[in-house]
Amino acid sequence: MQKRVRTAVFPVAGLGTRFLPATKALPKEMLTVVDRPLIQYAVDEAREAGIEHFVFVTGRNKGVIEDHFDRQFELETTLELRGKTAALKALRQDLPSAGRTSFTRQQEPLGLGHAVWCARDIVGNNPFALLLPDMLFKGEPGVLKQMMDAYEETGGNIIAVEEVPESEVSSYGVIKRGEGPDNGFRLTGMVEKPKREDAPSNLIISGRYILQPEIFNLLADQPRGAGGEIQLTDGMQTLMHTQEFTGVKYQGKSFDCGSKIGFLTANVVYALDRDDIREGFLKELRKLDLDEQL
Ligand code: UTP
Repeated sequence: MQKRVRTAVFPVAGLGTRFLPATKALPKEMLTVVDRPLIQYAVDEAREAGIEHFVFVTGRNKGVIEDHFDRQFELETTLELRGKTAALKALRQDLPSAGRTSFTRQQEPLGLGHAVWCARDIVGNNPFALLLPDMLFKGEPGVLKQMMDAYEETGGNIIAVEEVPESEVSSYGVIKRGEGPDNGFRLTGMVEKPKREDAPSNLIISGRYILQPEIFNLLADQPRGAGGEIQLTDGMQTLMHTQEFTGVKYQGKSFDCGSKIGFLTANVVYALDRDDIREGFLKELRKLDLDEQL
């Protein structure tokens, strides 16, 4: 029987330099796709997968994330007085229960591996999910739920992967696939940003993980890797010497909302998927006469 995954870590302490000046005072994870901040989508995905404790590793300017996951009594009272009960109900539904969120500071953005390590005391000696909120996934069920299903079979460490064109592998962490089906195969190696000719596959690590707590000690001693940052992939490579890793080629579509193109595309796709927005949005798009540009 596997130890249950109850806790999820959300690293939200990056500088978001690709999105300046929007991210000068606003955390990247509060950028909205239609009307929900990216961090809310990630928390929703974690709740759907059965996560009970939400750990945010924040940095400067991230107080607004803490406020987002808090009750806003003034706003709620106003909505109540104005009879906006549906909006009020939706706001309350978005919140994790009281006492089920924790916030810690990374202090310096030394890399994703360092951000994860900052959560070590809160997570303790337990397996945990790790969700990068700037990666948005549209899947049914959600990608973390698909990974939890694999975890129930295999335990150990789970990584969500997706295919990219071979010409793009050098921008990502790339895995080596062993035997097993798409929804749970042995992962036999990984490499961060390989040259195209050295890449072991075109399957990339895409921003959702289930990890065992032994990763924390490895990250503690991890020297700086690519880009002068403490890299999670380097820590996972070492952990692979002693623990099993399973890959899940998830069903669904991802949007890299840390990049402008991914973010804009996500807004279009999510807007067209909304019953209350689709028709009006399409009408405006038609007026733009995009055919000429496409
Ligand atoms: P990214 O590398 O996409 O984020 O990290 P970034 O550094 O903020 O973005 P750019 O490249 O400058 O535009 C993926 C996730 O890891 C977090 C980020 O907040 C993001 O959610 N992260 C990254 C940290 O929490 N701390 C870090 O030191 C680095």
